[in-house]
Amino acid sequence: MARTKKKDITAELGLNEQTPREIVEELDKHIVGQNDAKRSVSIALRNRWRSRKLPDEMRDDVIPKNILMIGSTGVGKTEIARRLAKLVKAPFIKVEATKFTEVGYVGRDVESIIRDLVQTSVRMVRQQRTEEVKEKAAENATERLLDILVPEPKRSTNPLGKLFGNAESADEPKQVPAEGKTSGRDFVKKRLLSGKLEDEVIELEVADHAKPMVGMFSGSSLEGMGDNLQDMISSVMPKRMRKRKVTVAAARKILEQEEAEKLIDMEEVAEAAVELAERSGIVFLDEIDKVAVKGSSSGPDVSREGVQRDILPIVEGSTVMTKYGPVKTDYILFIAAGAFHTAKPSDLIPELQGRFPIRVELKSLRKEDFEKILTEPQNALIKQYQALLETEGVQLVFEDSAISRIARLACDVNDDTEDIGARRLHTLLEKLMEDISFNAPDMKEDERKVIIDDKYVDDKLAEIVKSSDLSQFIL
Ligand SMILES: Nc1ncnc2c1ncn2[C@@H]1O[C@H](COP(=O)(O)OP(=O)(O)OP(=O)(O)O)[C@@H](O)[C@H]1O
Ligand SMILES: [Mg+2]
Repeated sequence: MARTKKKDITAELGLNEQTPREIVEELDKHIVGQNDAKRSVSIALRNRWRSRKLPDEMRDDVIPKNILMIGSTGVGKTEIARRLAKLVKAPFIKVEATKFTEVGYVGRDVESIIRDLVQTSVRMVRQQRTEEVKEKAAENATERLLDILVPEPKRSTNPLGKLFGNAESADEPKQVPAEGKTSGRDFVKKRLLSGKLEDEVIELEVADHAKPMVGMFSGSSLEGMGDNLQDMISSVMPKRMRKRKVTVAAARKILEQEEAEKLIDMEEVAEAAVELAERSGIVFLDEIDKVAVKGSSSGPDVSREGVQRDILPIVEGSTVMTKYGPVKTDYILFIAAGAFHTAKPSDLIPELQGRFPIRVELKSLRKEDFEKILTEPQNALIKQYQALLETEGVQLVFEDSAISRIARLACDVNDDTEDIGARRLHTLLEKLMEDISFNAPDMKEDERKVIIDDKYVDDKLAEIVKSSDLSQFIL
């Protein structure tokens, strides 16, 4: 049955076949060190996969173990989340806890996390379904293109016929043979399919997607309602159509999308998406330490604690209403992260602490880590600068001595002023490259290979690093 087949596909969407080892390997390509954190997220992901294989009655009792990542600023917490998002085949969203306020205050309410997660899920499922009906949609789109290119006889005055309408005035009788419409259509179809008409311009009627209401409610707790309201309004109002001049190639894209939408059962997509979000959804709660409060106090802290209390039921398992239906949050995996510079995990409200049983610590980065971060990841900083300057025809060579020197200086500045982790490398490198970046377009042919060694680094940076007054401002 088609229906059960679709269910399988949804299951496939939420499942990451990668083993923990493979996930860690993938993360290793972008993030240096932090093995504990990589390991625990990879195990958590694998546990999702394992629980999906369990018999129903057991699976319902297996609740994901949420993770709390602790590490000072700039050591890779958010980076792990970002890479993970690209890696997992499950609905994944990353939110900053600081964005939320207690219900009743101005700001986003916590339930919007789940609404956003379902939205992501819907997008994934819809994409999958679109893929399924792709061929059929393409066929339908071709037919509609033909309708435009070879209009019905009674519509032959249609300006769209410009291209082939002329044929009727006997200029080019070859293009539309006299036998009648179908053979003309066949002829055009052949040319269309062989890609000969891609650049022709036609006029296409498209629905005007502009939603005048967008943004009215954003940022308020009415947001969810705003969404529904918008949908209601746009479903009541007749679709505004607008004529656009587009190439056949562009028109095909638009029409294929329209046709795919017609072929997809949105209700079924919503149902599948809710299930996918419930079973496989992952929420990354960044900056959780910023809503932790030290000791009991008053003022803005009250609202922060309020946010924690609002987060609690969602993490614990509750039902959130979304426009795609109610969503149970029991099996959603939460990964929280925070620097916990001033507040400690124990400053979170106790109930919330208990919901994050797995704690992983990310280590402060040292010189060796910085050296690797500069050079090893797939798009490491040094590689980025090299590629950028390459576009100007300038070749940048970094000697090992320079890398080691930059790493050393980054460490020193972090120790002397504030430890901002790998972000220090960004500020240092930017300063280091300033002259070259500025002069690159004007460099003469024989200057276009720049070798950067420890001397060059010292030249540009040592003074600033030595004076803590200066480095506080510049680096
Ligand atoms: N271990 C690492 N390997 C590679 N790059 C890293 C590593 N740690 C940090 N970076 C780089 O440093 C920058 C900041 O890292 P990230 O955003 O992950 O910090 P964070 O731990 O989330 O800090 P914060 O607590 O301030 O949010 C990013 O550009 C990231 O690529
Ligand atoms: Mg971060």
